[in-house]
Amino acid sequence: MKKRILVVEDEEKLRRVIELHLLSTGFDVDKAATAEEGLKIVDRADLVLTDFKLPNMDGLQLLGLIRRQNAQVPVVIMTAFGSIETAVESMKAGATDFLLKPFSLDHLMQVIGKALEVRELRDENQKLKAELGRRYEFDNIVGRSENMQEIFAAIERVAPTRATVLLAGESGVGKDLIARAIHFHSPRRDRPLVKINCSALPENLMESELFGYEKGAFTGANTSKPGKFEQADTGTVFLDEIGDVPANIQVKLLRILQEREFERLGSNVTRHIDVRVIAATNKELRAALEQGTFREDLYYRLNVVPLNIPPLRERKGDIPFLANHFLRKLAPDAGSRVESISDAAMEKLIAYHWPGNVRELENVIERSLVMCAGTRLEAADIKLESAPRKTPQGDPHFLPEGMSLDEYEKDIIREALRRADGNKSQAARLLGLTRNALRYRLTQMGMEA
Ligand SMILES: Nc1ncnc2c1ncn2[C@@H]1O[C@H](COP(=O)(O)OP(=O)(O)O)[C@@H](O)[C@H]1O
Ligand SMILES: [Mg+2]
Repeated sequence: MKKRILVVEDEEKLRRVIELHLLSTGFDVDKAATAEEGLKIVDRADLVLTDFKLPNMDGLQLLGLIRRQNAQVPVVIMTAFGSIETAVESMKAGATDFLLKPFSLDHLMQVIGKALEVRELRDENQKLKAELGRRYEFDNIVGRSENMQEIFAAIERVAPTRATVLLAGESGVGKDLIARAIHFHSPRRDRPLVKINCSALPENLMESELFGYEKGAFTGANTSKPGKFEQADTGTVFLDEIGDVPANIQVKLLRILQEREFERLGSNVTRHIDVRVIAATNKELRAALEQGTFREDLYYRLNVVPLNIPPLRERKGDIPFLANHFLRKLAPDAGSRVESISDAAMEKLIAYHWPGNVRELENVIERSLVMCAGTRLEAADIKLESAPRKTPQGDPHFLPEGMSLDEYEKDIIREALRRADGNKSQAARLLGLTRNALRYRLTQMGMEA
């Protein structure tokens, strides 16, 4: 893209010389003999080169007007030799640079080149900053992995609606944080957000907690009390550990989701509410469906917008960002002087399998800060709860960290071939396969031409 330069100069000969030179060096040029004329076409200029002394309005006034309508465009002011004060004044008023007449065309090109370059760098910097803000952090939710970026985008899409969201993911992956982000980006942000932890409530208390009760509904019910759903009216209910809800409550939740109505315990007055529901589970709800412990109709009502948050070990690229985030967040409170994390320490964090996910990472950083006396966190400061699971011996009942079943199978077949000195019949026997079955597998896996 050619850059367009607006030349405002009342002296025709000079204007012409500058124009020809700019055209010959690959710029587009607009010309104006007065500030008023220039102002009309300044919008499309990538740079303005203006004389200071102009018929009516001078270059400084022109600069002021340009800055008011287009703060970004670089403006270079040409002033007569001996009027350095005007040049200084122009710079103070926001000119990008100045040229003292007479100037050589080379010098002109240098000044223009520099002004355009500064502009580009500034644009780029702003773009980068905006991108950083958007991509790697969303309301204090840190994540640069593709997975997390998709989740940020989903939060933005779904927040303005009333759609029910089902957050699925292991403990500590950030489900609470995401539920809050959805609520606070929704039109309900100034209304209540009420969290209900379904696994913390004993079954007999759950109904009264959720839906409230009337005086005399049960022994000890000396007054009436609204439940959590009523408290959340016009706001959001966050149902955590939804997989633990007992069957009789599941029916009532279904009714809330479908009809937005319920009765308090001990009452036959039907109440209507307007709540948005966000539910979370760390269990495979599908398994509960198959076992019949979770109602299918409720599942489909909840699963309108499913958001699956992967465990931290499946998005290790997020670890450095999260670790630094927690460092910045926790160091001041811990009275720690730690400012950075050494490469070896970071590698240790990345190698670990994080069964407790982001919550565990946060705890580990917090503890490490206490251990570390210096300004840089070293590998020795980091105490992990269990050894990194790198070898199959570490956990004999499951795949080694980061390995797929296919890769694991390949490994085992390779090992059998090694033990059998490359003899396929013998290797097959070691694996409990026929020779043909082994050959079939080898071809399938691309291990044999
Ligand atoms: N992506 C993230 N960025 C920053 N902090 C996070 C992130 N995910 C989780 N956390 C932090 O980790 C801890 C556990 O998160 P939480 O939302 O309670 O997980 P869950 O509800 O899935 O068990 C909280 O302190 C939370 O602030
Ligand atoms: Mg939680």
